[in-house]
Amino acid sequence: MKSLEIAKNIYWLGAVDWNIRDFHGYSIYQGTTYNAFLIRDEKVVLIDTVKKEFFSEWMDQIREVIDPKKIDWVISNHSELDHSGSLERLMHVIGDDKPIYCSKMGAQNLARHFPGGLNLKPVNEGEEMKLGQRTLTFLETRMLHWPDSMFTYLKEDQILFSNDAFGEHYAGMERFDDQIGEAIMPHAKKYFANILLPYAPLVLKLVEKVTRMGLKIRMICPDHGIMWRKDPGKIIQAYVEWAQQKPKKKALVIYDTMWHSTQAMAEAMVEALAQEGVDARTMHLRATHRSDVMAEVLDAGAILLGSPTLNNGLFPTVADFLCYLKGLKPQNKIAAAFGSYGWSGEAVKLINQELEEMKFQIVDPGLKIQYVPDKKGLEACQALGKKVAQAFAL
Ligand code: FEO
Repeated sequence: MKSLEIAKNIYWLGAVDWNIRDFHGYSIYQGTTYNAFLIRDEKVVLIDTVKKEFFSEWMDQIREVIDPKKIDWVISNHSELDHSGSLERLMHVIGDDKPIYCSKMGAQNLARHFPGGLNLKPVNEGEEMKLGQRTLTFLETRMLHWPDSMFTYLKEDQILFSNDAFGEHYAGMERFDDQIGEAIMPHAKKYFANILLPYAPLVLKLVEKVTRMGLKIRMICPDHGIMWRKDPGKIIQAYVEWAQQKPKKKALVIYDTMWHSTQAMAEAMVEALAQEGVDARTMHLRATHRSDVMAEVLDAGAILLGSPTLNNGLFPTVADFLCYLKGLKPQNKIAAAFGSYGWSGEAVKLINQELEEMKFQIVDPGLKIQYVPDKKGLEACQALGKKVAQAFAL
């Protein structure tokens, strides 16, 4: 992949990872990119690096623009290895003593990842660095999504280098929002739901802070996916909406099944929900990856979760999903549990415990049916679907 001048003397230098399909448990069907940026002024600055597997081709890109030894400073906005993985090798090429500017936590975290001794220089929020004609400044974005995360802002060009925030896992030949249009939004939404959701209140505070500061943003350059040059406000507004987690009249009936009994229950419920005017769908946990389920959970108002009882416990995929869901801390959901069982039937109780811990509003004690739902059982499922639908109005 060739380097790309995205503004005068500012370059995208990234790697397109076409083949990655799993990003620490997050499914990626269309790969991702690792974006890094270079600014040529009196000082030459490189912002972030790429995953270590792409180091060589990335260095070739840098050489297209400049002799790497002419890079004066490196900025590390985030120490996770998809952005810092090439840092140590880069420093060997450009000069081990060159400074790497990062947040205070970044200095600690990078030192843990690279104990060989990098010349780490912590910066403070608002600190300015003159490059010549241009000025860089920094915004602390702690826990968006690691303790070390920060943004770098190029004042004169009004470009925000936002690291993971406002990004997507998407590999393509498009580099900008105007080249891909609306098709990027489901990727951005899935990224938010799976990476940033636990920190939604911090997202709202950050947007409020940036608005208060009157920071003008002409372009947002995240470290994954496309750059927002046509309408950076679009992704900021989407982040506000997703972070607010206002529930839609939408229900997900999420389940797994052993002999189709829990499935039959799920299908009866979704039918009743739809009859009541709810946007409802079933999601089988062995047909839909947990990270795709999460993208739908983001704006759903109701979650109905079903599991058969297996060996006195939850079905493993349901336990996996609950663990993942709980960590991502979704809010403002109503919920109910259901499932079939043979002889002990603990699953509904176990799901309820988890739903309570997540502070979901449980609208019903839950429905368990022995072995196979008969006509009466299916009617009970429909009644539960209807009860959840009616709870939207409360
Ligand atoms: Fe893309 Fe948190 O690293």
